[in-house]
Amino acid sequence: NRPLTILGIETSCDETAAAVVRRPADGGTGEILSNIVFSQIEAHAPFGGVVPEIAARAHVEHLDGLISRALKEARLDWDDLDGIAATAGPGLIGGVIVGLMTAKGIAAARGLPLIAVNHLEGHALTARMTDALPFPYLLLLVSGGHSQLLVVEGVGRYRRLGTTIDDAVGEAFDKVAKLLGLGYPGGPALERAALEGDASRFALPRPLINRPGCDFSFSGLKTAVRQLAEGLGRPDDKDKADIAASFQCAVADVLASRTENAMAVANEMIRPGHRRLVVAGGVAANMMLRERLTVSAHAFGYEFVVPPLKLCTDNGAMIAWAGAERLALGLTDPIGTGPRARWPL
Ligand code: KG4
Ligand code: ZN
Repeated sequence: NRPLTILGIETSCDETAAAVVRRPADGGTGEILSNIVFSQIEAHAPFGGVVPEIAARAHVEHLDGLISRALKEARLDWDDLDGIAATAGPGLIGGVIVGLMTAKGIAAARGLPLIAVNHLEGHALTARMTDALPFPYLLLLVSGGHSQLLVVEGVGRYRRLGTTIDDAVGEAFDKVAKLLGLGYPGGPALERAALEGDASRFALPRPLINRPGCDFSFSGLKTAVRQLAEGLGRPDDKDKADIAASFQCAVADVLASRTENAMAVANEMIRPGHRRLVVAGGVAANMMLRERLTVSAHAFGYEFVVPPLKLCTDNGAMIAWAGAERLALGLTDPIGTGPRARWPL
């Protein structure tokens, strides 16, 4: 058992990111020595969403420079590293290839272990880096590509209680923001618009609410928003704010209800006094959602844990940390490891 210093590389979507994280020998909280994120938002904004080809090219252009900066900010040299971790999936395959191949090159050249990290595991373990959270805990993972409720039993050990049967939560935010013309990325834009809105003006459906089970569904809600917007003809800013607020409230109701069902299930797996609900992924940045889930968690005797905002959205530190957790268990990957567009936890 010794401290592990890991370089983490994230390129699975529209953020190019590199970070250096140190995991202490005793496995306590991680120390983020550097965490540099280059957002490609400007390159994709004119298209209203991420263009995979543009993303892959931008990763190629920026990644080497970001890695040099990450090492420099950490005041470290290559020799100080114990391993290279990179997202190997799931995600946009062109971007994943760029990050993984870069990591392989460094690992081969420097004789360092390679850790091929599942991006979702990066989100899932972030709370252990920031809060030294012990296993097991209940995780609501809500990002642009994924929505899942999981019991995190250990590194690489996930018990899925529920998932989305259509759109991911972030995807629903992005699509609704786009159809309201609120801009890209949709989640933050919609949250901003909703601040000015009246959530009680429109009654939107809450798919699967008050039904047993922990799966989610958002496509019906999205369709209802489209019909509502079309019915208004040319919605003005007030209409848009009210729709945004109503939509956000419906999402919060659905997520809270499904998470409450998951807590009831997780009670069988997690002892009283050890019950924690962690929210991770980009949508965890949403303040209303956090407040809503905090109330649910406390009502069920769960402590509510959410990583700091900039560790909720995609970043290199979460990949470095997941790499460190895996390396500490001796879990490394062969240089022939392939990138995976799809890779369930
Ligand atoms: O985890 P993440 O950075 O990337 C993926 O792995 O997908 O999550 C990005 C998603 C996007 O759909 C974005 O719109 C959403 O998270 N998001 C938000 C907020 N900030 C980001 N959704 C709602 N409210 C926010 N404040
Ligand atoms: Zn993510």
